[in-house]
Amino acid sequence: MCTERKRIGVAARAGSGAELNYTNMKTAAEVCPLCAGSGWKPVAEAPERGVTRCDCQLRSRGGALIAAARIPKRYEHCELSEFTTDFPGADRSIALAKIGAERFVQEFDPRDGKGLLLVGGIGTGKTHLGVGILKELIAARGCACLFCDYRELLKQIQNSYNDSVQATELQVLRPVFEAEVLLLDELGAVKPSEWVWDTVSLILNTRYNDNRTTLITTNFADEPAASVARSSSVSLSPARAAAREETLGDRIGERMRSRLHEMCRIVKMDGPDFRQKFKSASFG
Ligand SMILES: Nc1ncnc2c1ncn2[C@@H]1O[C@H](COP(=O)(O)OP(=O)(O)OP(=O)(O)O)[C@@H](O)[C@H]1O
Ligand SMILES: [Mg+2]
Ligand SMILES: [Zn+2]
Repeated sequence: MCTERKRIGVAARAGSGAELNYTNMKTAAEVCPLCAGSGWKPVAEAPERGVTRCDCQLRSRGGALIAAARIPKRYEHCELSEFTTDFPGADRSIALAKIGAERFVQEFDPRDGKGLLLVGGIGTGKTHLGVGILKELIAARGCACLFCDYRELLKQIQNSYNDSVQATELQVLRPVFEAEVLLLDELGAVKPSEWVWDTVSLILNTRYNDNRTTLITTNFADEPAASVARSSSVSLSPARAAAREETLGDRIGERMRSRLHEMCRIVKMDGPDFRQKFKSASFG
């Protein structure tokens, strides 16, 4: 910042000739030493195999992709490398979830379309892992990703029915349908209704049919809806039977839950609320 200001000051004092020089210098300094500005570099360790997209291209595309992914400020800091698994009281499932996330990034194949469903209690790190995966896929693979808050999305769709709002339902949904990798955060967080179920089905079915990868987080246990649990021999865990909490089946419908199992690998995350344990105001 200081250097920049000083240079501009010098250029201004020296008149237009110096200003031109400054511009030229800057351009020369920006030329990538790996590709000399062509955007292509020899394949590492095997130059005879030709050229590959240069790191500078991935970096500049990365910046645009990060902006396009619309990751909320609150989660901008989330990286897979920053996700700790050995804090006091950490559940084993947290380490397994991190390994699963890293493997997902390494093995990611956009043609496969298989995503992850991160299920767990409040503050177990689901959104952190989801965002960490998006950022890795952007940086290392140049994927077009999108963060989408489920509640916010449904609100925007509902809003689009209002005549005074310009955006149509399709305009709201198009990026959600088309993102190469979608992170749908807090699935089930909206009180269920026929409309909510239809909307969730539209989103998930469209992506499923197009073989696009969807990462999902939810607080609701991946268990059947109350009606199914009652009418079949599905046994509820003792804790759940005592105070029948709502399940993912209740919140998005049993048909959609079953579809999710085809679309995603289930990753369970148990343990304490990381926010309360380590991020409370008194902690720092
Ligand atoms: N294992 C971890 N290592 C480092 N930071 C963590 C870890 N788990 C959670 N955090 C941090 O704690 C905060 C809460 O995590 P996060 O939002 O991912 O939880 P969540 O499971 O999505 O919670 P919720 O169910 O309320 O949405 C975030 O700031 C996140 O970066
Ligand atoms: Mg979350
Ligand atoms: Zn380059």
